[in-house]
Amino acid sequence: MKFASHATLAAAVLLLAACQVSGEDPGTRPVSAQAPAIAPILATPDAVDIHSFARPHEARVHHVSLDLTVDFDTKRVGGTATLEIARQPAAKAIVLDDKGLEIEAVTDAAGQALQYKVGAADANLGAPLAIALRPDTKRLVIRYKSAPDAEALQWLSPQQTAGKQRPYLFSQGQAILNRTWIPTQDSPGIRQSWGATIRVPAGLTAVMSAPRAAEPMTEGGESVFKFKMNNNVPPYLIAIAVGDLKFQSLGTRSGVWTEQATLGAAAAELADTEKMINAAEGLFGPYRWQRYDMLVLPPSFPFGGMENPTLTFLTPTFIAGDKSLVSLIAHELAHSWSGNLATNATWADFWLNEGMTTYATGRIVEAIYGPKTATQEIALGVDSLNKEIITLAPADTRLHIDLKGRSPDDGLTDIAYEKGAAFLRTIESTVGRQRFDAWLKGWFERNRFQPVTSAIFLSDLRQHLIKGDKALEAKLMLDEWVYQPGLPSNMVKPDPQAFADVDRAVAAFARGAAPDTAAWGRWNSSERLRFLNKLPRQMPKLRLDALDQAFGLNAVGNMEVRYAWLDLAVGNRYDPAVPSLEQFLTAQGRRKFVRPLIKALAETPWGKPIASRIYARGRSLYHPLVTQELDKLNL
Ligand code: BES
Ligand code: ZN
Repeated sequence: MKFASHATLAAAVLLLAACQVSGEDPGTRPVSAQAPAIAPILATPDAVDIHSFARPHEARVHHVSLDLTVDFDTKRVGGTATLEIARQPAAKAIVLDDKGLEIEAVTDAAGQALQYKVGAADANLGAPLAIALRPDTKRLVIRYKSAPDAEALQWLSPQQTAGKQRPYLFSQGQAILNRTWIPTQDSPGIRQSWGATIRVPAGLTAVMSAPRAAEPMTEGGESVFKFKMNNNVPPYLIAIAVGDLKFQSLGTRSGVWTEQATLGAAAAELADTEKMINAAEGLFGPYRWQRYDMLVLPPSFPFGGMENPTLTFLTPTFIAGDKSLVSLIAHELAHSWSGNLATNATWADFWLNEGMTTYATGRIVEAIYGPKTATQEIALGVDSLNKEIITLAPADTRLHIDLKGRSPDDGLTDIAYEKGAAFLRTIESTVGRQRFDAWLKGWFERNRFQPVTSAIFLSDLRQHLIKGDKALEAKLMLDEWVYQPGLPSNMVKPDPQAFADVDRAVAAFARGAAPDTAAWGRWNSSERLRFLNKLPRQMPKLRLDALDQAFGLNAVGNMEVRYAWLDLAVGNRYDPAVPSLEQFLTAQGRRKFVRPLIKALAETPWGKPIASRIYARGRSLYHPLVTQELDKLNL
C-alpha cells in the first residue's frame, strides 16, 4: 500500500467521512434515525490493516446486503452481495477481499456490468478483488458462490449432529475467514451495516448475528429468513448457522438456540444470563445490541465461544451441569463492549479486544459469583500466561505485536488475553476501582462503533484518566506494557492465597501422600484445574493410577478438568487414559483441546500410532481450521 503523505491521507479520510454525513442518497437502504454515523477510517499508520487488500481511503463499503441460498448438496452458499460504497469522487476502483470465491458477475445499481479483476492470491490473505468504478457508481451487485472448501464454513452431515436427521452449517469469520463466503472489505477497521435474505431447505432454521427483519416464510421446499444489523460492525462479526434449531427463552432479552436434544441442558446452564447482562451494563454502560441470544453449536465448533453480535456462538463443551464453566458466557457477553463496540482496528491490537474482554469477564464473574470465584479464575489465567510466555519469542510478548507476513492467528496467545487483562488490573489497582470504572465506561462511550488502536487507548487514558499527573504516569509504565516484551515490574499479581488449600494438597501429593478424596469432592472446578495443572509433570504410573482411582479422572464430565487430566496423562505416556483420550478427541473438536493433545501424542513413538488412529476417526468431525494444521503432522 502506498501513501503519498499523511496529509493527503487525512484529506481522503475527511472526504470519505463527508460523503457519509452530507445526506447523499444511500440507495434503497432505509436509514434508521438511530443508525450511528459511519466511522471515518483512521488515518494513522498503526491503523493500516496488513491483512486486507482494501484501500478504504479511496473507496470503502459501508453496507452489505446478502441474498444467499444455502446448498447442502454442493456445500456452497451462492447468490448476490449488494455493496453500498463511500468513495472519493476520483476513485477509479474499489478493492475487496476475496478468498476462493467464484465470481459470476459484477454490475452497478442499474445492472450495467462493471469490470473486475482478481489479483494474485496469497495463501493466507486470499486475493484482491478490484472492481472498476464509474464516476457515479455507489452500489455494486456481485453475483457469486463460495467454494466447497471455504474456510469460514463448516458443513456437517446429519450423522454429525445431535438429531442425526438434518444437515448443519455454521460460519466462523474471525479473524480473516469471512472473505471465503462474503465479498467485502474484510478488515476490522472498516465498519459496515448489513442485511441478509437467506434461503434454506424447508424445515431448517437459519440464524445470524443480527435481529430478524421479518417472520420466516416457507414455500415450495424452501424457507426464507431475513436479518438486519443496523449497527456498523466489522465484517468478521457477520455469522450464520443453519440447522434443525429450536429456541428457548431465558428472560426478557436473552435466549438460547440449539438442537432439541441439547436445549434443556443448555438453558439450565445458561440460567444466569440475564443477571450477567444487567451486571455488565452496570459496569460498562448500556447494552447496545437489543437482544443477547446464544447458539450452542454441535461439538465440532472449533472455539469455546465467538462473540457474534446478538448471537454468541458457543461450544457445547461448556455445559458441565453445574454452571462451573459459564465465565465463558461472561467473556463473550463482555465482547458486546470490548471488541464489538470498540474494535481493534487491526489484528496487531487484538489485545484491545481480548485483553479488555478478559479483564471485563473477571468483573462480571465477581459481580455475580463473588470475589473468591473471580480471583481464582484470574489466578488460573495468570498461571496459563506464565506457562506460555516462556515459549514465545520475546517480540511476541508485546501487547502491540508485529504481524508482518504472518497470520493474525499468531497473535492468538495469552499475551493478548492475559497480559492484556493484567495490564488493566494493574491500572485499576493503581488508580482505584472507582476512578478506573468511570474511565472504562467513558472509553466504551467515546469509542462506540469505532475502530481503536493501542495509540488511541494510551492517548485516551492520558486525556481522561491521568490528566497530566506525572507521578501517576510514571507509576503506570504504560508504554512499557504496550510496546515492550515481558511483564512489567508493576504488574499486580493475583492473590497468592487464592488456592491455599489446593496448593497444600499438591505439595502433600508430591511428597508421596495418598490423593485427598475428601478435598477433591469439595473443590470447585477452578480448584480441580489448579490441582491437576500444578502436579509434577512427570510421575510414575502408580501415582497416576492412584489419582485416577481416587478421583475418577478418566470419566470426569467437566471437559476442562478432563482436558487437564489428559494433558498430564499424555505427558506421562499413561496407557490407562488412552480409551478416555480417544473418546474425548472423537466427541468434540474444540481447537484448544484437540490441537495440543494430538501434537503431544505425535511427538513420541508411544503416542504417534495413537494419534494416527484417533485422527483417522476424529478428522471428519474437526473444523477446517483444525484439520488444516493437524494435517501437516502427517499422521
Ligand atoms: N473472539 C474469540 C475467539 C476467536 C479469536 C476466534 C480469534 C478466532 C480468532 C472469543 O471471544 C474467545 O476468546 N474465545 C475463547 C473463550 C474465552 C473464555 C477465552 C475460546 O474460544 O477459547
Ligand atoms: Zn474473546
